[in-house]
Amino acid sequence: MRTITLINGDGIGPEISEAVVKIIDASGLKIDWDIQTAGADVIENEGTPLPQRVLDSIKKNKIALKAPVTTPIGKGFRSVNVQLRKELDLYANLRPCKNLPNIKTRFENVDLVVVRENTEDLYAGIERQVDVDTAESIKIITRKASERIAKFAFDYAVKNGRQEVTCVTKANIMKLSDGLFLDSFRNVAQNYPQIKTREILVDNLCMQLVQNPTQFDVLVLPNLYGDIVSDLCAGLIGGLGVAQGANIGLDCAVFEPVHGSAPDIKGQNKANPTALLLSAIEMLRYIGENNYADKIENALFKTLKSGICTADLGGMASTKDFANAVIANI
Ligand code: NAI
Repeated sequence: MRTITLINGDGIGPEISEAVVKIIDASGLKIDWDIQTAGADVIENEGTPLPQRVLDSIKKNKIALKAPVTTPIGKGFRSVNVQLRKELDLYANLRPCKNLPNIKTRFENVDLVVVRENTEDLYAGIERQVDVDTAESIKIITRKASERIAKFAFDYAVKNGRQEVTCVTKANIMKLSDGLFLDSFRNVAQNYPQIKTREILVDNLCMQLVQNPTQFDVLVLPNLYGDIVSDLCAGLIGGLGVAQGANIGLDCAVFEPVHGSAPDIKGQNKANPTALLLSAIEMLRYIGENNYADKIENALFKTLKSGICTADLGGMASTKDFANAVIANI
């Protein structure tokens, strides 16, 4: 039996994790879940929101499914999510965005993939208070990280039958940092003559995405633009409740939804487990359990087609109702 680390998270994390574990269980796939807690709740006992045992568990099992963990805004501890990505060198953040059955959105046939660099840029967390009225954040871009994320995007395109990779920057203004990201992309692109390339500035990209998103295929972006653009793309396919994601490194991979811990609906049995479920389905494909992945995905699509959905998508189903409907369709 395969052991997989499960981080239940906080906020809506435990509710959606429970739903997803039940659904996977109902598919007949046996997984030994190595449950690890993290975040604000463990600080009191363990002195840190990301104890070493969590990292050790993922390093040992190589794969984790993660529900969201709250990060305090402004002050307090550093994001568990950012730390996890950094500690495990999960350099690629993969966020496929594709329309789902029966979920009405502004556009049909959206099918794009956001590949976000996950380890540097302004998320390196190098900040200082210059004086009481001035703060400074340093944007780090290296050739090594830029080339490896570009390579990841092109390899993904080749493996998944994609036609084009678009590099997104603001290299007209940040000529050195974003310029280096773009230059690295151009170098790597030479090794993939079969894939078309495109370059676009991030502000123009945002406008194009809300006017005509179907023109894009694979997007590769530095960390900050990737974070913002992937939420925008989530909006194109029905919102955060359905947006899946994965953080992939050379040794380990952590699958998690794009959304956060949604404290506004915590504990109300209202959260949509679809984003975590889609992330789990990708995880199953990643470990070679394609039959189970297809079985669960078919049951999910059948449920959505039948009109059952949670409140964020305009439906009436609770988290538990929705999970039970998917299970019934398995
Ligand atoms: P959020 O994604 O938690 O919520 C934004 C809005 O979307 C809220 O109205 C929420 O109710 C709704 N929403 C999110 N997921 C949903 C779901 N599955 N079903 C139905 N509605 C859903 O973003 P917010 O409020 O900015 O962040 C809350 C906390 O989550 C913060 O502490 C933030 O740092 C953390 N966070 C954690 C992430 C992670 O663990 N990977 C990612 C993003 C945010």
